[in-house]
Amino acid sequence: MSLISDVEEEQIHFANVITTFQCYAKYSLAANNRRRKDLYTLPHADLELLEHLGYKQKIADVDNAILANAEFLNQIVANPEIFGHDISSLKGEEKDEESVSEELDDSAEFRTLTSGHAHSHSHSHSQHSHSHGIRRQDDRAPAKKQKRYKPSDFDMDKLRSTIKQFVRDWSVEGQKERDACYQPMKDALLEHFSDIPKEERGNFRVLVPGVGLGRLAFDVATLGFACQGNEFSHYMLLSSYFILNRTDAIGKHTIYPYIHSFSNIASREAMLRPVSIPDVLPSALPSGSDFSLVAGDFEEIYGADEGNDNDQEPQSGRWDAILTCFFIDTAKNIVNYLRIIHRILAPGGVWINLGPLLWHFENNTTSDPSIELDLEEVKKLVQDIGFELSKERSIDTTYTSNAQGMLGYVYHAEFWVATKKI
Ligand SMILES: C[S@@+](CC[C@H](N)C(=O)[O-])C[C@H]1O[C@@H](n2cnc3c(N)ncnc32)[C@H](O)[C@@H]1O
Repeated sequence: MSLISDVEEEQIHFANVITTFQCYAKYSLAANNRRRKDLYTLPHADLELLEHLGYKQKIADVDNAILANAEFLNQIVANPEIFGHDISSLKGEEKDEESVSEELDDSAEFRTLTSGHAHSHSHSHSQHSHSHGIRRQDDRAPAKKQKRYKPSDFDMDKLRSTIKQFVRDWSVEGQKERDACYQPMKDALLEHFSDIPKEERGNFRVLVPGVGLGRLAFDVATLGFACQGNEFSHYMLLSSYFILNRTDAIGKHTIYPYIHSFSNIASREAMLRPVSIPDVLPSALPSGSDFSLVAGDFEEIYGADEGNDNDQEPQSGRWDAILTCFFIDTAKNIVNYLRIIHRILAPGGVWINLGPLLWHFENNTTSDPSIELDLEEVKKLVQDIGFELSKERSIDTTYTSNAQGMLGYVYHAEFWVATKKI
């Protein structure tokens, strides 16, 4: 028997993510301080040589960069109640740094969920509105007051990835990755609708599942289409909300995304270089744009059987285009993902995909099932499910990598356009 409800679990998970943001400085400073402490285990002569290199100063510079990142992250979670969760349990537990540090030594009270639940925060950008209307789906009792959560390394890793995701989606530096990934998808979308006048694009509904920090969906809305992004990670949702709704100037924030590891770094500048975000003004969407983000699990929201859940829109045949970028390999069961994509597209609708096959649930420790097909099998399945494939090609691209690092992964990501057979 489950002792806490799904809603409570969801609130606890949300509160834990907030805590992770709030603990970033303390955690990261402690990790950096280890380097400082290690210096004092060395013979004096070695220390002197390192002093001559300015190594200690570099550690101090990283401390300052951590504090700057923390200031940014704290702004993101300054008003978490806008997300409709009752986080009074968290707020009631807010402590000064001193007491937080004591509690960080206690063991974690809650398990972190590996996936979110559909809770349909409707973040609407329609009518040039910059504030997101957020709807709570329930008003059941909030989680009881509990001890403050201790973020795990896994949590912090997710947060550091989120910082890098800002570079991919919302910085000038990320332009190269966006040109490689988002541009071919937007080009294919425009080509598919090339006989539709620009002013009529708003009649066509485009869905971007696993939208991350929202840039691809934002760009599609900027082209004039009605666009909805879907995302289930609280790290991403809190961050995209902040950048889309609470950022009023280009380059308003400065982050230091590459300071968390000293490995494979060519120079101090490469590690400590600041990145300004955003590169465009999110509020500059043309008036009348229809842009929304829906929070929740793709399969739960778009794969729900119609009629079963009154709170959810019917989805079958409702979408004219679906864009998946680095998303389909997040499936436990790719067959279900493809079935949903096929079902919710209108006849003749188009699914544009780009990404690798880095099966996210391969080797999972949560006993989740995981079906891991190779590319040939995926493409055969796509056709068996009722799509016609075209424009298949491989695109080499990085994903949130440090462009100035000494190590870089390049994905040979697969691109295709799949049309739902009529
Ligand atoms: C590899 S990232 C790609 C993000 C973005 N499309 C991009 O190209 O930068 C995959 C994203 O899908 C989200 N995601 C994974 N499974 C999901 C699901 N079942 N429902 C909604 N979002 C999901 C993750 O939280 C993550 O943000």
